[in-house]
Amino acid sequence: MGSYNKALLRAAVGLVPQDMNLEIFDLEGIPTFNQDTEQNMPTKVKDFKTKIREADAILIATPEYNYSVPGVLKNAIDWASRPYGDNPFDGKPVAIMSASIGMLGGARAQYHLRQIFVFLNMYPINRPEVIVPFAQDKFGANGNLLDNDTKKFLGQLLQNLANWTRKLTG
Ligand SMILES: Cc1cc2nc3c(=O)[nH]c(=O)nc-3n(C[C@H](O)[C@H](O)[C@H](O)COP(=O)(O)O)c2cc1C
Repeated sequence: MGSYNKALLRAAVGLVPQDMNLEIFDLEGIPTFNQDTEQNMPTKVKDFKTKIREADAILIATPEYNYSVPGVLKNAIDWASRPYGDNPFDGKPVAIMSASIGMLGGARAQYHLRQIFVFLNMYPINRPEVIVPFAQDKFGANGNLLDNDTKKFLGQLLQNLANWTRKLTG
C-alpha cells in the first residue's frame, strides 16, 4: 500500500476543519544538502521554501528511522533553513504526526523533531500526540485509515492547529 505516513497525510486532508486547506508537499527529489550551492538552490528546494513561506501553519508526517528523524526529512529541513537568516519556518505554528510498524509509533522521532523546532523558532502543538504504532493494523490495503481512535486524535490535532494558528496570528 506504500508509505503509512503518506496515507496518514491523505487521511488528514479528509479531516481538516472547514476553514482549513491542507496541501501535501512530497520531499521526493530533494538532493542532498551542499552548502556550496545554498546561494543557488535546486528548484525543488526553492519550491519547498515558497510553500512553507505561503503556509499559515505546517503539518509534518514522518516515520522514525533508527530512533530518530529520517535523513530525508532532516536534509529537507536543513536546505529550507538556509542560507542563514532566510528561514521560512521562523515563527510558524507546526503539528507533527508519525506512523510506524513498531510499538512506539515514531515517538522518538517526534521528540527529536521538537528539538529541531527550537532552533528553527517554530511553535509546535503539544497535544494530542498523534502517534500511530502498529500501522499495518490501522490502514486498509488501499491506504485508507481504518482506526477510529486515530481518526479522532488526528481530527483533534488539526482543530488544535487551526486554533493555535489563529491565536498566534490573530
Ligand atoms: C532505515 C529504517 C530504519 C527504521 N527504524 C525504525 C525505528 O527506529 N523505529 C520504528 O518504529 N520503525 C523503524 N523503521 C520501520 C518503519 O516504521 C517502517 O518502515 C514504516 O513503514 C516507515 O514509514 P512509511 O511507511 O511512511 O515509509 C525503520 C525503517 C527503515 C527503512
